[in-house]
Parts: sequence; structure tokens; C-alpha cells
Amino acid sequence: MAEKEGPQSREGGCGHHCPGQTDSTRRRFLKRLVGILTAPLVALLGWPLVQSVVGTMYRLPKATFTKVGSMSSFPQGEPVSPLFEMPRQTEYLHGKTTQDVWVIKHSDTEVTVFSPICPHLGCHYNWYSQAHKFICPCHGSVFSLDGKLLGGPAPRGLDTLPHKIEKGDLYVKWELFRVGIPQKIRIG
Ligand code: FES
Repeated sequence: MAEKEGPQSREGGCGHHCPGQTDSTRRRFLKRLVGILTAPLVALLGWPLVQSVVGTMYRLPKATFTKVGSMSSFPQGEPVSPLFEMPRQTEYLHGKTTQDVWVIKHSDTEVTVFSPICPHLGCHYNWYSQAHKFICPCHGSVFSLDGKLLGGPAPRGLDTLPHKIEKGDLYVKWELFRVGIPQKIRIG
């Protein structure tokens, strides 16, 4: 007697019209379609982020000199922290930011400029005229007038910034350096 053929009798499933197979084919097709439709959107939104990360790592922005102030406005021998505006251009921001630096004028033609960022972990430090020292409020690093590390956890002295004096005005190149390491490595 011939055996009755049924869904269970075929090895490996139910052939071309198996409902399960049709569902999974449809699911695969939909997944691919969603992938195709969303890929350009993801690329569009993600590109600025990728650019900014890669840009920071491999393509440092070209620092340009920005005017900080007139040399005649700085007292001689006493650190001052003038504010100045500098153009800022990133993937997301086109405009100006207010920045500060530490300026120590030695004469009308000689000056030292320090980044205001503590090389330990990036806090802003202050000048204490009575103690005649720069002291960071965050973890107590202490620096001399010429930027040497006198104590505390900072791994190096203060970071100097490139500068020039033109027609009696001080111009500074704003640069950022990696904190927490003994070497002065520019990161921005
Ligand atoms: S951030 Fe200045 S001492 Fe830690």
C-alpha cells in the first residue's frame, strides 16, 4: 500500500510554498530595504562626527595669531589674564569664542604667554601675588612666575603659547595641549 504523502514526509521542509520560508524571505527583503534607505541618512548625520574625531586626531586646525591687546595695557612683571575674542570654526560652530591667557610682560618688546589650562587635568589656575605663585584650585599644583612646576600632581610646567608683538600689540596663537602627561603635545 502506498504511503500517504504529507507535510512531515519530506525531508528538509515543505518546498516552494512553505509559509515559514516566505515569511523569512520577506523579512530579509525588508531588512535590506531599510538598510538601503537609512544608509545615506546615517552617513549624512555621522559624517561631521567622523570628521571632527579624525580631524582632531590627524589634522590639527591651523592656529593663527589673534590680537590679545596693546602691550602698553599690560603691567610689567605682574601676570595678568586678559580676555580676547578669537574666530572659532568647527563642523558645528562658526563664530567667535572668548578666550583668556596669562601674560607676563618683561619689557615693551618681551613677554611670556601661558595657556590658562593646568597641565594636570585641565582646570584654570590663578596667580597669587602675595605668594608670588600660580596655584591650581583643583588639586593644588603650584608653578613659579616662569611656569616651572614647584609642587602638586601636575606632570609638567605651564604651557607657553606662541606669540608676536606687532606695532605695540600682542598677538597669540591659541593652542591646546594634552593634559596629564609630562610631554607637551599639541592636540588642537
Ligand atoms: S587640574 Fe590643576 S592640579 Fe589638577
